[in-house]
Amino acid sequence: MTAWGFKLTGVGSALPEKVLSNQDLTAWMDTTDEWIRERTGISERRIGGSTSGLATQAAQRALDAAGVSPSSIDTVILATTSPDHICPGTAPAVARELGLECGAFDLQAACSGWVYGLVVANGLMLQGMNRVLVIGAESLDRITDYHDRGTGILFGNGAGAAVVERDDSGAGQLLGWDLGANGNWVHILYADHGDTLKMDGKEVYRQAVIAIQRTVQATLDRAGLTVADVDIVIPHQANVRIVEAAWKKVGFTMDQTVMILERTGNTSAASIPLALDDALRHGRIEPGNLVLFVGFGAGMTWASALVRWA
Ligand code: COA
Repeated sequence: MTAWGFKLTGVGSALPEKVLSNQDLTAWMDTTDEWIRERTGISERRIGGSTSGLATQAAQRALDAAGVSPSSIDTVILATTSPDHICPGTAPAVARELGLECGAFDLQAACSGWVYGLVVANGLMLQGMNRVLVIGAESLDRITDYHDRGTGILFGNGAGAAVVERDDSGAGQLLGWDLGANGNWVHILYADHGDTLKMDGKEVYRQAVIAIQRTVQATLDRAGLTVADVDIVIPHQANVRIVEAAWKKVGFTMDQTVMILERTGNTSAASIPLALDDALRHGRIEPGNLVLFVGFGAGMTWASALVRWA
């Protein structure tokens, strides 16, 4: 087993104020609150704000929680599917707002993006960096058609961020990770330039359950550990039924799983750090716990990372 000294020293998140509830959607969509909750687990999502604005808020909270100065950050990785502009990336604007003077780039791996970012941050630390800010931020309302019953019920805005630091003490570790992609599935979830998200919901559901099982196993294998060793699981918040179906095969319980999508909907790259922040605020993670992050989404992409919490 190869483990890498690695700890998340500060986490923060941000949601826009405006709530779009299932009930709100029924005003113009042929659906019901009950149908959406039963099929997805979602009651409401947030809309408004910008990707850079939400990212800046979440990142500032993460910096404050870590108690580190902006000048000590070596790189900003901003995972997003809904950047402010097609070009340039959103990360440089966020770095400017935070007063950082370091490298800053966007990472596009859809809903797996923040977990990809964690693994990339680990690589940068192996190159000698000490602190990397890993943000997931989305304003999916810009690419969601809230009149479409298939997609409009799912997506919302938000951001989450973590200060990731090298930990030479060995207390915090990245115990295992896995990154994957299969470009044969581009057509089941995509947005063309200037258009909204298009999705084959049933196929996404099927492929997501397969991807989750596969990536969890790969990360556990790399760590030399089993399902029974994991304390807390923070999956991408897409649909509670996807997670339940995957766990039936994998063996995790919903009690050890952090779910917040009832209040946020699917916030793509932001969903895992948003859920992580919620779990920390509710005291669900203790030092020494093994925390597994599992992302999956358009691409298809998938990613997981197992962290010993310090
Ligand atoms: N409200 C009410 N009824 C709806 C509806 C809605 N929003 N959307 C579809 N329906 C109806 C359909 O018309 C259909 O009716 P019929 O049986 O009379 O023809 C029935 O409900 C079933 O539709 P279907 O499209 O098969 O629903 P589903 O069970 O596949 O659920 C999703 C749709 C989108 C909730 C589901 O496919 C899903 O969550 N997929 C994964 C999506 C996802 O997580 N994407 C992001 C991944 S990162």
